[in-house]
Amino acid sequence: MRRVVTGIKGLDDLLQGGVPENNSILVCGGPGTGKSIFGLQFIYTGAKNKEPGLYVSIEEKPDKLREQALFFFKDFKKLEDKKLINFLKIPTNIAGLDIVEFIKDAVKKTKAKRMVIDSLSILSINSSMYKIGLKTTLPFSSAAIMTNNSFEETKQMVYLFINKLSEFPTTNLFIADSSEQGMYLTRDSVSEFVCDGVIRLKQLMIGRTVQRVLEIIKMRNTDVKPGAHTLMFTNSGLQIIDFRY
Ligand SMILES: Nc1ncnc2c1ncn2[C@@H]1O[C@H](COP(=O)(O)OP(=O)(O)OP(=O)(O)O)[C@@H](O)[C@H]1O
Ligand SMILES: [Mg+2]
Repeated sequence: MRRVVTGIKGLDDLLQGGVPENNSILVCGGPGTGKSIFGLQFIYTGAKNKEPGLYVSIEEKPDKLREQALFFFKDFKKLEDKKLINFLKIPTNIAGLDIVEFIKDAVKKTKAKRMVIDSLSILSINSSMYKIGLKTTLPFSSAAIMTNNSFEETKQMVYLFINKLSEFPTTNLFIADSSEQGMYLTRDSVSEFVCDGVIRLKQLMIGRTVQRVLEIIKMRNTDVKPGAHTLMFTNSGLQIIDFRY
């Protein structure tokens, strides 16, 4: 099986070379745990290997993500100019599964081999709008307040979304918020089951200091050892510093 390197030092060794090609991987974690930086590093690493990548941003403006990326990856802009890195912002007037078609066009145009969806969480908020066919021009959050969202609809929506994107010729990384409490990793409660792999990022309080950790919860076709690994922000991106074989 071919593997796709994440570019996160230590993680690729833990994954026997990287994530399985064409798989869908969920990267979840609480706010500020490094999910977007993980995604940017994944796309950047592909671009360095001449694989075009598409970063689909649902909430954040590409400008902000670009700025974040430039802090760690100095030639990020150059690779973007060469169309090896592409950003796609989903306009607020496209809802639900219409987003799939919009992304599909961009994958074709960019010939992307890697894709990041940042993040799934907004789909959970937005799902009922698709069901009732309401194409809103309101910001997602305001629209969500106006609609009556059933949890089952949300699950269906996220399930379909991941499934449809899994048919694309890309290796996919889905980003989602996760809560520290509760039975499920994600707000939608299905993405962790639908995806082929799940990586969780966490911030742990140890005494008065915060330690960032990464756990591989599952990875199909890969022998992974359970447990948390120390994650560091270096000036060239994320890195695992205590990986063991
Ligand atoms: N240069 C840096 N050095 C160390 N830590 C940094 C640096 N840049 C960002 N961070 C840390 O990374 C966090 C943001 O990372 P990122 O945006 O990837 O998180 P996220 O999980 O996507 O957050 P959100 O849930 O808000 O989208 C910041 O809160 C900060 O703590
Ligand atoms: Mg983010």
